[in-house]
Amino acid sequence: MGFFCSFPRDTILGVSHATKVRILPSAEAAMEHAAKDLVEVCRARPTGKIALALCGGKTPASLYARLARRFVGQVPWDRLEVFFGDERNVAPDDPESNYRLASQSLLAQVPLPSEQVHRFRGESQDLEREARRYEAEIRARVTAGPCGIPAFDLIWLGLGADGHTASLFPKTAALEEERRLVVANEVPAIGARRLTFTFPLLNAARKVQFLVVGAEKALMVRWILGSVAGRPSRDLPALRVRPLQGELEWVLDRDAAAGMEESDLIA
Ligand code: 6PG
Repeated sequence: MGFFCSFPRDTILGVSHATKVRILPSAEAAMEHAAKDLVEVCRARPTGKIALALCGGKTPASLYARLARRFVGQVPWDRLEVFFGDERNVAPDDPESNYRLASQSLLAQVPLPSEQVHRFRGESQDLEREARRYEAEIRARVTAGPCGIPAFDLIWLGLGADGHTASLFPKTAALEEERRLVVANEVPAIGARRLTFTFPLLNAARKVQFLVVGAEKALMVRWILGSVAGRPSRDLPALRVRPLQGELEWVLDRDAAAGMEESDLIA
């Protein structure tokens, strides 16, 4: 069973030796923690390149803005190689684009060399070809770990209320990918095609941090972190993110952690 330490401002519930659940009082506090954690990851690697993968969706917007304002002087931007864990099949200036959000709120605001920002070409008409191109870029720029797969220093992930993460949606083909690191994924549930990291790449990371806030995620958080019975993992893609030799941390605000008790947590 994990351990429960009561902290004045936040709570850490360890659900296993390599997984931590950190519950913060608010969404803002959760994003502050994530920003500070990036600084810590960079400090732990004082030389050489640092590989970071940004997550999509709306949750990270305040994290990116915070990094661009309060933390701009604490991150060695010139050493970062920034990738995206997934992207929609849209142009970079489309309101739906994950790149657009990150570019406006962070990437264009900090001294990060443009050649170190690796954008999915979401506008491509041939997503399979784009997935292979992007995988080649990752292999060229991110150092491989012990298992021979590029090991990101930090991957941020969001969580959908249906249990998806990145663009690994329930019951889609990408969940079964065991060899490729990036694929195009057909998502009938939303009538869209996406580009996404696969589990082999996610699980080769040195650290994966889920950033989940809001009451609408609370039930899914409990399904995934709780001792659920009967829900096959193909229905809970986020449950299959388990870095083989890296850290896994869930950063939640109190709303997303609503109803969670220590007894709920998986061993
Ligand atoms: C995407 C994301 C996706 C997202 C979750 C949570 O491109 O949509 O990568 O996995 O992180 O859907 O999205 P919100 O932060 O908007 O709730």
